[in-house]
Amino acid sequence: MKYFTIIIGFFMFMFLNSYSQEHEKSYIRPTDPLVQSNIEAWQDLKFGLLMHWGTYSQWGIVESWSICPEDEGWTQRTGAYSKDYFGYKKAYEDLQATFNPINFNPEKWAKAAQEAGFKYVVFTFKHHDGFCMFDTKYTDYKVTSAKTPFHTNPKANIAREITTAFRQEGFKVGAYFSKPDWHCPDYWWPYFPPKDRNVNYDPAKYPERWKSYKDFTYNQIKEILTDYGKIDILWLDGGWVCPKNINDPRDPGYSKLIDQDIDMAGIAAMGRQQQPGLIVVDRAEGTEFENYRTPEQQIPEKPLDYPWETCMTMAGSWSYVPGDTYKPASVIIHNLVDIVAKGGNYLLNIGPSPLGEFDEDAYARLKDIGDWMKVNGDAIYNTRPVAPYKEGNICFTRNKTGEVNAIYLAAQNEVSIPTIIAMRGIRPAKDATITLLGFTGKLKWKMDGGELKINLPKPAVAKPPCKYAWVFRISKVSQEN
Ligand code: GLC
Repeated sequence: MKYFTIIIGFFMFMFLNSYSQEHEKSYIRPTDPLVQSNIEAWQDLKFGLLMHWGTYSQWGIVESWSICPEDEGWTQRTGAYSKDYFGYKKAYEDLQATFNPINFNPEKWAKAAQEAGFKYVVFTFKHHDGFCMFDTKYTDYKVTSAKTPFHTNPKANIAREITTAFRQEGFKVGAYFSKPDWHCPDYWWPYFPPKDRNVNYDPAKYPERWKSYKDFTYNQIKEILTDYGKIDILWLDGGWVCPKNINDPRDPGYSKLIDQDIDMAGIAAMGRQQQPGLIVVDRAEGTEFENYRTPEQQIPEKPLDYPWETCMTMAGSWSYVPGDTYKPASVIIHNLVDIVAKGGNYLLNIGPSPLGEFDEDAYARLKDIGDWMKVNGDAIYNTRPVAPYKEGNICFTRNKTGEVNAIYLAAQNEVSIPTIIAMRGIRPAKDATITLLGFTGKLKWKMDGGELKINLPKPAVAKPPCKYAWVFRISKVSQEN
């Protein structure tokens, strides 16, 4: 029995291993030269702000998922309506009638984000619940509907205000759009109760209805890509809406069972007609329409040889939850450095409140990140990964001019720089100079038994140029490495 278990275990391991390697291989490089150069330019930006905002913020609950009839940890319903699914869904959708974020001030957000060093923004035009934060013609379940009190506000077309304000601060702009729509009667047909996150009828049996859903989706995406100025990234969520069997093998759960072909080829072609060179991110599909990969709430162990972006919450939840715990600035900065050293981008999420504000803790983090970026941004933006990528608590990046940055991640209580910084993975050229970003003057260094040792002068030790992580810039590395 024991041997049997071991043998089965071995085959399972081999199977899963080959499965995931298979998947890793399946990144398909886009052929359009403009898309290629846009991805290259996007890889220079490194740091993006994601925002999840919708009517759900009023209840301080998870975005959309509480109306999904699956019994998962993140789909739980609580509160007065929770005992009856349909009553709950109605009350949830009635949140439209009270959504009134009167303190919405996108210029304030854009300014704070710009000062923190973010370079692009991705905003939820529509999440799975189907509520549109933009002025669509195709449904009344939207912020600009007469049913939504905020519709009389001059800033009612929230997506327009956000994209405009951030663009003015020099941001590139991405539109988050959910392929599934749990409000649309052509996705969850009211004839049947919804069963799970998927379409609740068989598209093969009711092709007209599915066609009408495809048209609706296409038309809404077309509106976004036509009426909102320059959109750089179309960030499509809801990976289970795809042709049968192409979904992410790591998440086979609810997908693959039903053919939910939304015609990505048609969407991408239209999208690039409206927005030449548009980066399309059809998440988790592994097709030519997933121009970069989006690991969620995690940082890959190793550098990946295709474009990628970790999306992660700044607090615990994507949506606004009162009293949510925000990650310390040190953690956010260390994550950013770790990601950039592995060749990725960091898309960090803030969920605005029902009145249209960021939490004070979010502002405090933005300020801390900005202080760090002002000193060290040069070791982050426009860089590319360089071996050995990471050595203990030191991460490496390479400037396009050839300089290498060794970024020392300080331990939690480490407030002064050690007098000697040592590493083995990088060998400076003989005539190289080494500096500490934010500190004037060259540092003394030597090679000692294959180890690079950098000596810190007293003033740098006594008064580090910043908190959390220190950057040693090596002007030239030896080719002999
Ligand atoms: C998760 C959440 C989804 C959210 C997404 C952002 O998949 O379930 O609601 O929009 O992360 O990456």
